[in-house]
Amino acid sequence: MLKIAHRGAKGYEPENTLRSFQKALDLNADGIELDVHLSSDGHIIVIHDETIDRTTNGKGFVNTFSLSKLKTFLIDGKYEIPTLKEIFDLVDKKCLINIELKGLGTANKVVALIEEYILEKNWSYEDFIVSSFDWDLLQETSNLNSNIPIGVLTEEDLDKALAFAELIKAHAIHPDFQLLTLENTKKMQEKRFLVLPWTVDEDKDIRRIKSYNVDGIISDFPDKL
Ligand code: G3P
Ligand code: CA
Repeated sequence: MLKIAHRGAKGYEPENTLRSFQKALDLNADGIELDVHLSSDGHIIVIHDETIDRTTNGKGFVNTFSLSKLKTFLIDGKYEIPTLKEIFDLVDKKCLINIELKGLGTANKVVALIEEYILEKNWSYEDFIVSSFDWDLLQETSNLNSNIPIGVLTEEDLDKALAFAELIKAHAIHPDFQLLTLENTKKMQEKRFLVLPWTVDEDKDIRRIKSYNVDGIISDFPDKL
């Protein structure tokens, strides 16, 4: 079962920072999960919200700032907002990277960066999963490069997610863990999809979800898994 660290090891370090991803590596996570938006000058920025308000000392929409301006805002007064490239270089193939597309225009930039690391740095498709709640972005990713493993995110309707996963030949389904039962987990696995629920942090929930034999769990506390 894959232990995937949500936004880095968010339970221990500030989310989506180099420090949180290093913590995930230190905890021997099998994978990290992160969120991406674009800067105004087209760089892929690792941040959860569409604004910088909650996590930094600045205010405004991520996509209205250039990368150099975004670098001036700090998380917890100490940490810069990282780019996806910085995370790739930190991880250096040591674990799976689950990139959650949040912002408009992220699909083609992320596909291009994945292709660059595969072609020029000897990474492989198995080093990545691209997921999103925005299924149009997943369709776009798959149209651009059908070899990239896709994870269909859902917090509502598992049957719809399963149908879409079949349509685009996805690799995995990433459900809100509250939706899972033993039966629907089996149904997805019988269709050869990995089942990677999120965000499972409480011991009692971890026990329940593990009892369904899921393929992995996304958690703020990967070491608890
Ligand atoms: O990828 C799973 C999970 O990260 C989705 O929710 O809001 O934490 O991005 P959120
Ligand atoms: Ca996420």
